Formats: sequence, structure tokens, C-alpha cells
Amino acid sequence: MTTTRELRQQAEPITMLTAYDAHTASVIDDCGIDILLVGDSMGTEALGYDSTLPVTVDDVERHTAAVARGSDDALVVADMPFLSVGVDEAETVRNAGRMLKEAGADAVKLESGPHTVEMTERLTQLGIPVMAHLGLTPQHVNQLGGYTRQGTTEAAAEEILSLARAHEDAGAFALVVEHVPANVAAQVTDALDIPTIGIGAGGDCDGQVLVISDVLGLSENAPPFAEQFGDLRAAMADAIEDYKAAVEAGSFPADEHSHIEDGLDDLG
Ligand code: KIV
Ligand code: NA
Repeated sequence: MTTTRELRQQAEPITMLTAYDAHTASVIDDCGIDILLVGDSMGTEALGYDSTLPVTVDDVERHTAAVARGSDDALVVADMPFLSVGVDEAETVRNAGRMLKEAGADAVKLESGPHTVEMTERLTQLGIPVMAHLGLTPQHVNQLGGYTRQGTTEAAAEEILSLARAHEDAGAFALVVEHVPANVAAQVTDALDIPTIGIGAGGDCDGQVLVISDVLGLSENAPPFAEQFGDLRAAMADAIEDYKAAVEAGSFPADEHSHIEDGLDDLG
């Protein structure tokens, strides 16, 4: 299994994808992706919400357990949902702890800010590895007014850099940098010993992450920085239309799908 220590020493770029269910986790894991993130993006990608805000600790715990059961090798990271951390220390520890004790995650991710430095230190001390997340933090959408690029002014870029250092010092094992200018992500990457994993943050991070439904071409509103590497929506529609047509035409089920038991031919 990939460990947080090995990640730091790995020569090639780190690969990370989100997963929310066992089948998808198993395919991603078989492809040799390093990290499975059970993102709170499940809110929009699996649960049909308009944002990540309604996602609960129970949701992330259940989907993390499915992903952990479906995978063998990848590091499984559970994304702590809106208001599950930071309200109260004991509750933060309990909620993050559930992801390791109950769901089988290897680590948690916290959308980070000035309020998560101490929390990161506490969780790390307790044996809960923490992945930090700076730049665009979608749980703050109500303050940000949208999913816009962050770190675009000198002051904002400085703040990201100083928070990145603070989270490294607090014990975070990796840092996601989301939707910031490439040169800002590059400077953060240079400044840290822990690996940076970028999304919409240019090519100079130590790794990359994308949302699986964007990569597969399943989502209908992928962000501009995502690349659609497949067309799963079309592939699914083809299979579903073929099934529908076969049932309607009476060609499914065929004899090979059916069993006729001897001696049961005069029931009723
Ligand atoms: O929830 C998520 O999918 C994420 C990634 C985009 C980093 O936080
Ligand atoms: Na997230």
C-alpha cells in the first residue's frame, strides 16, 4: 500500500483522482493511481446537490468505506465535509477519527485556512495524517461568491504561501493547491518539502488531482481547468439504449440468459 512517507520520496509526479464508490475505486486502483480522494465533491458528482455544502460526515464515511473496500493499493483520503471540523476540537477529532477507525481511510483532507493550523497539528499528533488544501476552497463559496481563481494579487499569493508553510510545520503530509496561477503554485511547491498536488494550478506541482467524473466525461459542467479524457456519458447511453431496445424487441433475455427447470412445466 502507498504510504504518506513513500509519496514524499516518489520520483514521478503523484497521481490522484476522486472516487465515491467501490467499482470506480477498483478500476482507478488497478490503473496504479497513487491516491484515491473521497472528495466532498460527491455532493455534486454523486449525490445530486448543487454544491458540496450539504454533504455530511455520514455521507463521507459511507462512501469512504466503499472506496476502501474497493481498492487495495492506493492511499485512501477522506475529505472532511463542511462544518465537520473546526466547530469544536473534540468533535473535529471524533469526525476525522471515524474516517480512519470506521471507514478504513488512511488520511483525511481539510479545506485549510488560518483556522486549520492547530487542528492539523492536533490530528497529526493523534495519528491522523492530514492533507491540507489551499487556494480555492469550495466550502467558502458563500464568501467567495463563486468558484473563482484565488491568489491573483500579491497579498493573496503571499497568504497562500505563508499558510502552506504553516500547514507543513503543523505536520500536513501533502497539500492540494486548487485554482491558483501556475507561478503561485510553483512558488509554493519550491517553498515546501511536502508534496503539492495541483488542480487548476499549472504543471509545476509535485502531483495532479482531478474529479473522476470530469476525467471520464460523465459530468455535464466540468470546470475549465479539467480535461475530459473519456466520454463515459456517451458510452453509458449507448449501453442503456441497447438494453432498452433489446427488451422492447424481445431479444433480451435470450435462451442463454434463462433456465428452464425439468418437471416444472405444468405449474398452476
Ligand atoms: O472534493 C474534491 O473533489 C476535492 C478535489 C477537487 C481536490 O477537494
Ligand atoms: Na473537496
